[in-house]
Amino acid sequence: MVAPTDSYRHWTLLVLWLRLVSYICATNVDPAVLDACPGYNAQNVKTEGGTLTADLTLAGEACNVFGEDLTALSLRVDYETKDRIHLKIVDANSSRYEVPESVFPRPSNQAVSPDSASIQFNFTTSPFTFSIYRSSSQEVLFSTASHPIIFEPQYLRVKTNLPDNANIYGFGEHTNPFHLPTDNMTLTLWSKESPGLPTGTNLYGNHPVYFEHRTTGTHGVFFLNSNGMDVKLSNTGGTSLEYNAIGGVMDYYFLAGSESDPAEVARQYAEVAGLPAEVAYWSFGFHQCRFGYKDFVNVAEVISKYAAAGIPLETMWTDIDYMDRRRIFTVDPQFFPMNRMRDVVDYLHSHDQHFILMTDPAVAYLPDDPGYLSFHRGKDLNVYLKADNGSDFIAIVWPGVTVYPDWFNPNVTEFWNNEFREFYDPETGLDIDGAWIDMNEPSNFCNLPCDDPFQQARDQGLPPPRTSSPPDPNAPIFQNDSQSQLARRDDILNPPYAINNAAGPLSSKTSMTNATHANGLQEYDVHNLYGMMMSIATRTAMLARRPGKRPLIITRSTFAGVGAHVGKWLGDNISLWEQYRFSIGGMLNFATIFQVPMVGSDICGFNGNTTETLCARWATLGAFYPFMRNHNEIHANDQEYYLWPSVTQAAKSSMDIRYRLMDYFYTAFHQAHTDGTPVLHPLWFKYPKDANTFSLDLQFFFGDSILVSPVTEENSTSVDIYLPDDIFYNFTSLAPVEGTGSNVSLTNIDFTTIPVHIKGGVVLPLRVESAMTTTELRKKDFEFVVATGQDGTASGRLYIDDGESIEPSQMTTVDMSFKEGKLDIKGTFDFPTGVNVARVRFLNVEKAPKKVKVNGKTLGHSRIKHDATNKVLDVTVDVAFDKDLSLELS
Ligand code: GLC
Repeated sequence: MVAPTDSYRHWTLLVLWLRLVSYICATNVDPAVLDACPGYNAQNVKTEGGTLTADLTLAGEACNVFGEDLTALSLRVDYETKDRIHLKIVDANSSRYEVPESVFPRPSNQAVSPDSASIQFNFTTSPFTFSIYRSSSQEVLFSTASHPIIFEPQYLRVKTNLPDNANIYGFGEHTNPFHLPTDNMTLTLWSKESPGLPTGTNLYGNHPVYFEHRTTGTHGVFFLNSNGMDVKLSNTGGTSLEYNAIGGVMDYYFLAGSESDPAEVARQYAEVAGLPAEVAYWSFGFHQCRFGYKDFVNVAEVISKYAAAGIPLETMWTDIDYMDRRRIFTVDPQFFPMNRMRDVVDYLHSHDQHFILMTDPAVAYLPDDPGYLSFHRGKDLNVYLKADNGSDFIAIVWPGVTVYPDWFNPNVTEFWNNEFREFYDPETGLDIDGAWIDMNEPSNFCNLPCDDPFQQARDQGLPPPRTSSPPDPNAPIFQNDSQSQLARRDDILNPPYAINNAAGPLSSKTSMTNATHANGLQEYDVHNLYGMMMSIATRTAMLARRPGKRPLIITRSTFAGVGAHVGKWLGDNISLWEQYRFSIGGMLNFATIFQVPMVGSDICGFNGNTTETLCARWATLGAFYPFMRNHNEIHANDQEYYLWPSVTQAAKSSMDIRYRLMDYFYTAFHQAHTDGTPVLHPLWFKYPKDANTFSLDLQFFFGDSILVSPVTEENSTSVDIYLPDDIFYNFTSLAPVEGTGSNVSLTNIDFTTIPVHIKGGVVLPLRVESAMTTTELRKKDFEFVVATGQDGTASGRLYIDDGESIEPSQMTTVDMSFKEGKLDIKGTFDFPTGVNVARVRFLNVEKAPKKVKVNGKTLGHSRIKHDATNKVLDVTVDVAFDKDLSLELS
């Protein structure tokens, strides 16, 4: 949202206007001018073990494109692991801003010998250019040849040649195809409020990382830099990728990836960015939210209606509506009185459901109102971000005039922890199970020059008065149930190189770039870190509240590495088919490339009114988002699933699949947390040699083996999908699917279903049936589905723990493998599952076997059924799932 009073039409116009401004402001330079810059000569090159250092001196007459070329630089290259090279170029004469270690801890340097490395660094000395190539094949992966590096105080340029029509994925956050077009494309990184998620512009988060895929292998490049930047992909004069950053240093991590398994590069990136945080089992249940719930009665009503409709509701959310005049850490005494909201939370908890509230960063600026304690406590601790004149930086957000917490302030942890402890106290406050943090770009409604924020806030009518009358306070509910300031002469308000910021000037709609943090750092450098730092602070506060328990925290603004702390939702999309489709690419970016697996977009769409068919399809697709939440905007029509019979059915049938697969997906998440293996995979991850898969972003794998292929067009009941050359099984009938390795037309897909296939080669663990809550689900028996691959074997893994402890004391890990007619289920069963293995289904079985033995004992015929049409052998097992188990078919 830009401003609460703006209608959808207004902000669409605003977005178009801002895009025009940014187009005019953005810098366009003739690439030939940049390529004519002198670059640097490398001297004094020293190598020792896996480290190379050199002095770089300007190689000719300065070109001074956007400032004065630095004359002397230092280069350091480290072979940090066998698969990772770290290259850093800094100013030799003075220190410059670098992303603080407290926000982005550096990976450890294992100092390996280049001889053992799978990628190599090569360079020329005059001028200095460098390349990275694969040791085994000598294939060049990155090369600055003929593109001199440019290092000016506010302009850093590194450009690499790429193969023609290279397959590039990543760089975010943006709304673009997952497979990035290389045709004159600019990807801008600068955190920005982004109503409607406009295509091709900078959005909320910043992830300067890409993976490049070739049939010969997949590698990755991460640029550790938090300054604003434009990354340009171009096909002019050969395909190339160019970084144009307006500050910081050149700090690159080159990841070798692998020649055969694309997931390897994701794991290597996790070694740099951090392993994703594990989330609680319940987090995978369904979440309902909206901006605009009127009062506590309305919230209670929605909870009851979900129950009445028989749609599983795991977590109820409440947006800023609950606040008193939109002030954080308060409740509206008439509309959301504390005692009644506590009734709502108690009800949810007693029904094994959960509750999450919005917490924005901006604190209402109320120096003259002693009643708003949060503001005063922050003021007393002096934790607010400062304007360049040293006073608190004033912005406008939901409550009107506000101040922002400075996450670098040494007192900010005390402030934030304390506010969380007070307001979210289980005994006296609201006992939240997770946190939702938003507007943390940080977003600012004040229009530049923002001379009088007080007047602007009044003009915008903030905070708006409530339009309904308050409910009866006794209304019955639930009747049915430390870096130092660097000397700076730069123009940080209007830097000479203007990035293509869709909001126009850098400070537009956010904090001023000259606002200063307690450690002296300025927003110019650390703006892109604000959401990341709020995420870290909120995780700390939640851990202090609920020690030892995995918190679910969902943020809007992000930076590289944020997944180690929180999850992310894709922000303010629109209820449009196009955005339903884009949500898949957006989600793959975060889950597969950026190491932020807990991701999803607002199901049925946030802005504008959804339609029954869009909401029905989106409910089915959303059942395969890691983070599954229906959410919409205050002016839009209601869109709870139960409002339409078709959407109710769509939600139920797709959630039925999701819930039954929850342990499979939970296991994938645990794996991601252990080694960075993504929880979602684009098709090319699994079929890296099949060029037909490289640009597919409307189908994806949920976990390793569940292929999801939604219907993508409005009013359509069919979809053309691609099935690589492999064995797939229809998830519903379990029958093998013929004709793979080609496009397949699926027809008659009604609005309540979504095509789902099982990739052959897996033993899937499933619960025998779904449930209304995840607590109930965990009491259901297991079944295994043995879906053999082309070689007739199958394998899988299952991880179970208490579902919420950061360090669980007991874990059950089971490996399932099927070969030559024998299924072995073996593991350690420390965490008691408390349930049985009810049955095992073997797929692609032409003829019923003569005998089936369970743990060596032959089963009676009544327990074996063979469905010849679908080729499914169904074996009733019914044994306690607390030890190894084997099944033999003969
Ligand atoms: C922002 C959020 C949106 C939320 C609204 C009100 O626009 O992106 O999800 O509903 O603020 O808090």
